Amino acid sequence: MEGHARHTKIGKRFGVGIIGLGEGKGLVKGLESHPELQVVAVCDANPELLEKIRRVYDVPHAYSDLAEMVRRQDIDIIAIYTPDQLHIEHITAAFQAGKHVICTKPLVNALGEAREVIRLTEQYPQTRLMVGQSSRFFGPMQHQRRAYESGKLGKLSFAEAHYVHDMRWFYGNRPWAREGGFDLLFACCSHPVDLVRWYLGDAEEVFAYADQSFVAKEAGFHGNDTFIINLKFAGGRIGRVLGFYGLEQPHQHRPWIEVALYGTAGTFIASYPQLQSLQKFTGEHERLETYFEDIYHYFQFEGINHHAGEFVNYLEYFARCLVGGKTALPDAGDGFKTIATLEAIRESIRSGRPANVEAL
Ligand SMILES: NC(=O)c1ccc[n+]([C@@H]2O[C@H](COP(=O)([O-])OP(=O)(O)OC[C@H]3O[C@@H](n4cnc5c(N)ncnc54)[C@H](O)[C@@H]3O)[C@@H](O)[C@H]2O)c1
Repeated sequence: MEGHARHTKIGKRFGVGIIGLGEGKGLVKGLESHPELQVVAVCDANPELLEKIRRVYDVPHAYSDLAEMVRRQDIDIIAIYTPDQLHIEHITAAFQAGKHVICTKPLVNALGEAREVIRLTEQYPQTRLMVGQSSRFFGPMQHQRRAYESGKLGKLSFAEAHYVHDMRWFYGNRPWAREGGFDLLFACCSHPVDLVRWYLGDAEEVFAYADQSFVAKEAGFHGNDTFIINLKFAGGRIGRVLGFYGLEQPHQHRPWIEVALYGTAGTFIASYPQLQSLQKFTGEHERLETYFEDIYHYFQFEGINHHAGEFVNYLEYFARCLVGGKTALPDAGDGFKTIATLEAIRESIRSGRPANVEAL
């Protein structure tokens, strides 16, 4: 499918350097011909992939080493899409070079690394970091957020999010998922945990069960890939997350990612990858709302396996916040809270007991 990204006004030109051209090529593609966000350089350790992306998207500069790319004066923002275990190293290099950072999820792989990110933001106060939580920036989730912020849902009583997927392709194609430090809980449940936190605030306590599916066993994957997570938030609300990555018979009925908000005045259920949401408000009929016109923005190439539309949405939002002097969310503090919640979930799975979430 040819690219049809929608580009919105920023108010200033920014140079962007992108490292990690697996998922990161979605952003290169999405920013093609952007009037204000120019991909000045790309970086990848794989020379064939690097050359291919540079050539196909006509990127001016290509590097195999981030240390060289961050020296460029014409780069303002570094976008990081390297394996989870390398995020902290690459965030540090970008901060030390004075570049703003967008880092894909999970921000980092452990709570100790999240503390290090906070330390960096204190050491380099002029440098901004935003977490690339793509699911927040998918159309139905954006519509859901607007409905929530407009007060249409009333007060939230409960929220749940799930992320269910067939991960066989992942085990076979991502050698780093079999290396030390990788945890599928962080890699994948960072989506639904962040989404529930976005609405219910700071999680204080979690209780989780985990299991390993037949898919993971057959793939020789070392860790858990099935998670049921209960969360208790400051202020007393409770929420729930399901993460299941051993799906063997995919179906059309339930979305891969779903966020269900139950409020006093409205229920709003947003989906991914379906461009639709289910809504029911006080005094109105239940309705299925579709956003099919957005298909060329979100699914620009390679079917629905890339996130070019969400990446463009969040980079434009980040750049506009930089121009307006506003904090782009999720920022480092918000990212810390998601990582702290995931770390508590890991601890609860290990101990078989509820675990407290470390406060920022
Ligand atoms: N929805 C989303 O936002 C989303 C979706 C998928 C993956 N991701 C995240 O994106 C990241 C990358 O995942 P992926 O699926 O693209 O993996 P991938 O293995 O396809 O891509 C990673 C790329 O990084 C390159 N790389 C590795 N080490 C490097 C180094 N030191 N310097 C330069 N390049 C280096 C590799 O050569 C590879 O091309 C992960 O953190 C993953 O969790 C996010």
